[in-house]
Amino acid sequence: MLSDRLEPFRRIARHLPYAMALGRRLHVLLDPELRTVARLKRRQGQGVFQHWPHTEVDRYPQLFDALAERLSGIEAPRILSFGCSSGEEVRALRQRLPQARITGVDTNPRAIARARKADADGRYLLAELPPAGEQFDAVLALAVLRHGDLEAFAPEDCSAVMPFARFAEGVAMLEAALAPGGWLAIFNAHFRFADTDTAARYDVDPLRLTDHVAPDVIWGPDNRRLHRQPYGEVLFRKLRDC
Ligand SMILES: C[S@@+](CC[C@H](N)C(=O)[O-])C[C@H]1O[C@@H](n2cnc3c(N)ncnc32)[C@H](O)[C@@H]1O
Repeated sequence: MLSDRLEPFRRIARHLPYAMALGRRLHVLLDPELRTVARLKRRQGQGVFQHWPHTEVDRYPQLFDALAERLSGIEAPRILSFGCSSGEEVRALRQRLPQARITGVDTNPRAIARARKADADGRYLLAELPPAGEQFDAVLALAVLRHGDLEAFAPEDCSAVMPFARFAEGVAMLEAALAPGGWLAIFNAHFRFADTDTAARYDVDPLRLTDHVAPDVIWGPDNRRLHRQPYGEVLFRKLRDC
């Protein structure tokens, strides 16, 4: 691994002023994965939300089970995994809903390439918006409507990093892709869906995840940090007459 090969240089650099910072910069320049993430980080606020592509196999089993149950009355439900990274979420959903037509969208070209390689039959699109003109019975944005620097530094005011308005824009964009009566899943965000204007057109599902801690590093619509207010709502149903 590149990181192991750099260890001898790291040992020397620890004794030289500024060398560690320079080394970190070099590491990013030399690693194509980190270079892509750094490029996406620079584009945050212009379409990109969370720039890190971290994901896991079957990451939210309770949520995926609940969604499969809610969609069971639809023969071939259309599902959008927005910010699908390398497609683990798409595949976890397909295991539960083999007839579903699932689309994964991600703005990271390397993650999309990995998804396509792992799953030649899947539909993975390199984009930063939902596919134009398409409607879905469920839209998921899990660990997407957030920012790594908010998690790391937890400022009292989030506006310089990612303002609430940016979250609300993202939610409105996802709503446009959701069919009436469809399900919206938002989890691991730094804001509450309930604070958006969009929420007035949704019913809150009673599902609460016990296999994950409810996010508690969150900010309100005034961009001020909300202390000790974990937010457990995760699944929302769009009203049919919207
Ligand atoms: C932390 S990963 C989440 C992966 C998966 N949803 C999960 O929960 O395991 C966040 C992903 O969102 C993607 N992303 C951020 N902004 C996006 C946008 N505007 N359009 C599509 N993907 C986006 C990033 O490239 C990254 O792969």
